[in-house]
Amino acid sequence: LDNGLMRTPPMGWLAWERFRCDIDCDNDPQNCINEVLFRDMADRLAEDGWRELGYVYVNIDDCWSSKTRDAKGRLQPDPKRFPGGIAKLARYVHDRGLKLGIYGDMGTYTCAGYPGTTLDTIETDAQTFAEWGIDMLKLDGCFSNSSVQEQGYPLMSKALNATDRPIGYSCSWPCYQGGLPPKVNYTILGEICNLWRNYGDIEDSWDSVLSIVDWFTDHQDIIQPAAGPGHWNDPDMLIIGDYGLSMDQSRSQMALWAIMAAPLFMSSDLRTINSGARAILQNKAAIAINQDPLGIQGRRLIKEKSGIDVFWRPLSNQASALVFFSRRTDMPYRYHTSLKALNYTKGTYMVYDVFSQKVQPMLKDTTDFVVSINPTGVVMWYVFPAAVSKTGTATVFGIA
Ligand code: GLA
Repeated sequence: LDNGLMRTPPMGWLAWERFRCDIDCDNDPQNCINEVLFRDMADRLAEDGWRELGYVYVNIDDCWSSKTRDAKGRLQPDPKRFPGGIAKLARYVHDRGLKLGIYGDMGTYTCAGYPGTTLDTIETDAQTFAEWGIDMLKLDGCFSNSSVQEQGYPLMSKALNATDRPIGYSCSWPCYQGGLPPKVNYTILGEICNLWRNYGDIEDSWDSVLSIVDWFTDHQDIIQPAAGPGHWNDPDMLIIGDYGLSMDQSRSQMALWAIMAAPLFMSSDLRTINSGARAILQNKAAIAINQDPLGIQGRRLIKEKSGIDVFWRPLSNQASALVFFSRRTDMPYRYHTSLKALNYTKGTYMVYDVFSQKVQPMLKDTTDFVVSINPTGVVMWYVFPAAVSKTGTATVFGIA
């Protein structure tokens, strides 16, 4: 969507994966969906170094609203859990240099059964969100059909635009239509949405991450060209820092989401996140790769019988990123290859290892090398021709 927003994939925090529809604030005050949770996350984003790295969205998901609309037919927050109202929460978030996202559903009800947005309430809801000071809308698609979605998603795009408030627009539409043509038209999506969920919900497990990665790579010929500045594929939230991933698997999710030019919405509890997970989520080179201004989504280049997959993403300033990913479950695998075998032809390259944060010895395209990849883990490289090693890209990491 050409609204000037999200020229690189949006980054921030989203409540759903970790906090779901916990509305029991009486018995579970630390984990329930209420205004305190979002203020707490805004505080953490602002004070713990996240905001400076680009994690600026604080996003509400389902279960924020009252079970009924107000007397004027407008959506309203649950009065007990959001006593200050959404506008006040938006001011709190904006005062900390952050942005506030909210959740709606193109249909009769949201997925968790709260009031949805029907065709006749699209304009009212867009107006309400704009008046509150909302910066991003995730529009889900439960309790509707393909005809309502086909009308509703473009109409909401228009209605948001008509508010004169810049509001990023995340569409779950393709996810409800199987994610593939002919049912899904990626040209239209790119024109009306800033990002879209192509596939099912992520859960807190490695199996879930793997199934998402497999779907995106199996269909990369269709999915990859759809992405670009202002319009992104969304493989769903990062679960790094939650309960389901090892450190190696956490690095894998970060690397693969960076290669896929995916929105980076964290789900973990930033009040208690451990330092290992934090370091992965705050890895500057991985973020720089994800946020590359060219905005070209990466692809899987090679799928080896040994269980090693190689992913590649072209970056600005003639740079590129490589991910060596192991599906193996036995031991670190010593993978033999050369840059030439990975389509590199410009002579000598400088290589920065993203997670060990070390510059490798200069590497000729014809030289064979070995990388040791941990089970379910990755090795991620930031690669650029030696000839341009003194330019901006290299200095990003202080390695020129
Ligand atoms: C759907 C979406 C999720 C989340 C829930 C909320 O399942 O795909 O991301 O928003 O609804 O109920």
